[in-house]
Amino acid sequence: MDPKATIPSTEVPAGFLRRSKDFGSDFIFGSATSAFQVEGASRKDGRGPCIWDIFAADEKRNLFLPYGEDAVLHYEHYAKDVDIMKDIGFDAYRFSISWSRILPSGKKESRNQEGINFYKKLLNKLKEKKIEPFVTLLHFDVPQALEKEYDGFLNRKIADDFRDYADICFREFGKEVKYWITINEPWSFAYGAYVKDFLAPGRGKVQENLLRRSNNTIDDLEDDGSIDPPSRYSFPTSIRKRSIAKPSERRISDKEDELKNAYIVTHNQLLAHGMAAKLYKDKYQRVQNGKIGITLVSQWFEPLTDDKKDTDAARRALDFMLGWFLHPLIHGKYPETMVKYVKEGHLPVDELVKDKSIIQDSCDFIGMNYYTARYIRHDERNGGNYVEDQRVKYHVKRKDKFIGEDKGAAGWLYSYPRGIMDLLLYIKKEYNNPLIYITENGIDDPDDKSLKLKESIYDHKRLRYFHDHLAFVRDAKRQGANVQGFFAWSLLDNFEWGFGFTSRFGITYVDYKNEARERTLKHSAIWLKFFLEN
Ligand code: NOJ
Repeated sequence: MDPKATIPSTEVPAGFLRRSKDFGSDFIFGSATSAFQVEGASRKDGRGPCIWDIFAADEKRNLFLPYGEDAVLHYEHYAKDVDIMKDIGFDAYRFSISWSRILPSGKKESRNQEGINFYKKLLNKLKEKKIEPFVTLLHFDVPQALEKEYDGFLNRKIADDFRDYADICFREFGKEVKYWITINEPWSFAYGAYVKDFLAPGRGKVQENLLRRSNNTIDDLEDDGSIDPPSRYSFPTSIRKRSIAKPSERRISDKEDELKNAYIVTHNQLLAHGMAAKLYKDKYQRVQNGKIGITLVSQWFEPLTDDKKDTDAARRALDFMLGWFLHPLIHGKYPETMVKYVKEGHLPVDELVKDKSIIQDSCDFIGMNYYTARYIRHDERNGGNYVEDQRVKYHVKRKDKFIGEDKGAAGWLYSYPRGIMDLLLYIKKEYNNPLIYITENGIDDPDDKSLKLKESIYDHKRLRYFHDHLAFVRDAKRQGANVQGFFAWSLLDNFEWGFGFTSRFGITYVDYKNEARERTLKHSAIWLKFFLEN
């Protein structure tokens, strides 16, 4: 059945959402965070530096996080945060382990017991509150020592070190952890850090300081095709002034080489994932009885018109964001469009053949992060090829499928709830209907310092966003998608990478001015509580 025939346009399916009726008793609801974004305590208890400590402390980038020092102090307040989850009624918590807290030098010889103890305490607290942990082993925060020694993910050696690190985590935490996620959003890491440089280690071509994009100028937004500036939000002048960053000193002149790096980094991430997953399956799974997967991200790509050229272009866009990873993982090869369009010699096709037995069929489930969608149009320039670096320049309004009524604060996120259903059904059709957990979904508000607390927690845009996305998850499930869980991003306002603290994704408000980083539930959290109770 064509899903588009059953649900017209972008309309949210009617009816009041009820947890048990709409999702069934086995469906898992949770919220998510990641170590670097919430923990703080970066120099405490023997933790070694990670690439984000260095990146966020670089003054040119205006991220206002000297050496990852405090973030939102989850390291200190983890017990309180687990109480918050319990109060909302979540079944599960997705968090990540900081590799350099467990192994300060990134290598197995540097084992740090105090780091291990922290996650044991957290896991005990979750157990006490009957909250199921979903644990990510790597969420962007690669140990700096490995970056320094051999260029991190540009070197395939990292797969061995990642496997060793995973081994320690499985051994130490596997009794409590039944859901392992090896790597978070390998696409964002490859693209954001090796094509662009808004993510650490910032080895892309030109610095794209995302804060600049918050200045609401069309020029700044042009890059990802978002012609509509996020004009509903204004940013505090202090940030506006300080956010004009100088271009990075590090420029790599040959654009093609940068793109090649992203393909290498991707291969090495898939290899690292596969080696850790294989180890888990061979050595731990039978005894520990858990599952292992990876978390991918994809936007939904909606063809600008129904013309075949545009629908083909949308398909290529999906291949370049989702298929780049899911094809090797499920089908053991790269999508044909990539083989056809990527410059010869860049896509590591032979390496994949060599490592196929490690990478293919390595997942018990796929974690999917979904936030937004883009229109896609065939581009005659570039020989009609889909633009290799994923740029989509045509964010315009299609009447029947309008992307972007609600926008995020940072400028890249346009709410398109039905995209989550379209994506789930596309995966069902193209990738043998794997078990899926939506490991992230959410929208950001600006850090508007002029608001009072009661105004800051009045986040009805976010409430609507969750409601509408959940309605479409339900519909995808009804149409046979094997989706069994949903995690709201994020439990807490936190450090939003290239946007620093200017973008707030939390369902819980965090007062950054307050020593204890006081937490207050926002309306979206209260709605979730109501939904989960019913
Ligand atoms: C995906 C990333 O995994 C997460 O760390 C980030 O904060 C959210 N997207 C929002 O951008």
